[in-house]
Amino acid sequence: MSDSNGQSNNPNNDNKYLDMDLLRFTTAGSVDDGKSTLIGRLFYDSKSIFEDQMEAIEKSSKSSGEEEVNLALLTDGLKAEREQKITIDVAYRYFATPKRKFIIADTPGHTQYTRNMVTGASTADLAVILVDASKGLLTQSRRHAFISSLLRIPHLVVAVNKMDLVDYDEQVFNEIVADFRKFAKKLNVTDVTYIPISALKGDNVVSKSENMPWYNGSAMLHHLETVKVDADDNIVDFRFPVQYVIRPNQNFRGFSGRIASGHIRPGDEITVLPSGLHSKVKEIVTRDEKLEVAYPGDSVTITMEDEIDISRGDMIVRKNNVPTVRNDFEAYVCWMNEKPMELNKQYLIRHTSKTTQVFAEDLLYRMNVDSLNREEDATKLELNEIGRVRLKTSQPLFFDAYQINKKTGSFVIIDPTTNVTVGGGMMRAGSTVSEESKSRSISKEKSPNVVWEPWNIPREEREKRNGHSSELLWLTGISGAGKSTIAKELERRLFDEGKQTVLLDGDQVRHGLNGDLGFSPSDRTENIRRVGEVARLFYEHGNVVICTFVSPYENDRHYVSQLFPEGSFKTIHITCDPKTAQQRDPKGLYKKAKEGEITGLTGYDADHEAPENPALTINTDEVSVEEAVEKIMEIIG
Ligand code: ADX
Repeated sequence: MSDSNGQSNNPNNDNKYLDMDLLRFTTAGSVDDGKSTLIGRLFYDSKSIFEDQMEAIEKSSKSSGEEEVNLALLTDGLKAEREQKITIDVAYRYFATPKRKFIIADTPGHTQYTRNMVTGASTADLAVILVDASKGLLTQSRRHAFISSLLRIPHLVVAVNKMDLVDYDEQVFNEIVADFRKFAKKLNVTDVTYIPISALKGDNVVSKSENMPWYNGSAMLHHLETVKVDADDNIVDFRFPVQYVIRPNQNFRGFSGRIASGHIRPGDEITVLPSGLHSKVKEIVTRDEKLEVAYPGDSVTITMEDEIDISRGDMIVRKNNVPTVRNDFEAYVCWMNEKPMELNKQYLIRHTSKTTQVFAEDLLYRMNVDSLNREEDATKLELNEIGRVRLKTSQPLFFDAYQINKKTGSFVIIDPTTNVTVGGGMMRAGSTVSEESKSRSISKEKSPNVVWEPWNIPREEREKRNGHSSELLWLTGISGAGKSTIAKELERRLFDEGKQTVLLDGDQVRHGLNGDLGFSPSDRTENIRRVGEVARLFYEHGNVVICTFVSPYENDRHYVSQLFPEGSFKTIHITCDPKTAQQRDPKGLYKKAKEGEITGLTGYDADHEAPENPALTINTDEVSVEEAVEKIMEIIG
């Protein structure tokens, strides 16, 4: 995401490919949680701060009679720097150990942390969430964790700080871990590491603490040095927002900008948005050379084979891979201003190289960050609040879902009178369809001029003869979680017990009946809608219907559940660590996704929304197929 200058202030963009051994992380927490002290401690103990700075700090700490060196002085020294550069939202700090280099997006510990996280942390590989052991898990830490999950920061470290204040008590740590685990279940985070520390005393920050022999994990620095980071740039979907049109003379006409994602070579066929005109790339040039291929983050000028009209704010993409083009869409918005977000007030939106007017048409819900419940009756978003908002822009935007493309899936909102960044947001998968699917109801979804033909043999009669009731079991989860395997075994068991069963599986239904559908959010919605209708027919015919579909969207599952009598639709979330799914890779799809052959694979670069109220959650990392079948049998009426 860009700052209020519209420029990326990530200093690392240019050499990302050369310098892989680098971890970018962000810290979230208030001054009271000891964030400055932690960063100071990492610097101090990893001996990477300048000697003279150290001396000054030692002197000033000692003169104030403190026993410990006041490490907060190190980072607080940055305040003045920040105040001078008020347009820069985030201060980047650097340190290194022999194993790795680190860049910290240091989000200052005042109330505007949301702003700093949203505008600064989106490129982070890891977020450290600080929790004060003496206070327990507070709303603020939950909010940080929620924002980190929205921003899809792949690794979280929950640093339970100030363990010295609670006598290094294992019980205190365990309770905070349990609280966080419960909360994190509802988030889209997969890798969470819990570390008990005392930033002040240095316990478990750089070296393992002798005060907590009960803790078996690594010290923080060791974790930061060894956590596996994957370059998460999208190098498949080419998006080139045009920043300038360059025309030094009659013979040269080039389009300059920074590649937001994807790669491009001379000769590649392109389309220009919004005009839809096509051409081929002639040359890609930088200040000093011609390139054979250009990657995300590269600042280049592109020339075309044909004379076509392209202006600033247009986007150049590949011919067969275009983003969504719309002027109304839904997004998660984090509000960052004292003045609440008002509906139908005119703001500016800055998205890639484009700035245009925007109105918030509707606040669909506000997130309660403690419970992660949706507050649907909310009418405004106040400072630091997060909500799902329907936005309307005066010019169309060319965007992708944030989860597929961080650059083209994010934006900032600016108050045109003050020019201050007041909000930041992320476009969501399914962002243009959920309203439509939400408002669907059974009665609406019918062809014109048809009336329902009542069943000749009512379900109850069939159930009676079959000797069991109809059931609807909906298995949802990412590809490779184990849905189909469990479903097959379950069906065998039911069949052997003499029950009438039907199994509907995504990989079968998508041959034939739904063979016309792909994996875009709207196609998935349609897939689930049709399957739901088919399942209903089987259900009414007295079967135990097992459905196994990725079905990533809560709205879609909710829609289907409404087709069945209250309480009879049972959602079973089949889950596992995405890494396990990637290893299993039963259909070789993760491999393809990694090699850039496909995008939008659920479990890799597309979201699966965990069910809000599943009848059962089965983690196949922990439970065998037989056990899973057993658990499901227990919930069948
Ligand atoms: S859903 O998202 O619309 O519910 P569905 O369950 O029908 O998906 O189909 C999923 C199957 O399609 C997976 O088992 C997998 O084999 C295949 N598939 C191909 N591309 C994708 C993709 N991008 N995301 C998820 N599954 C995919």
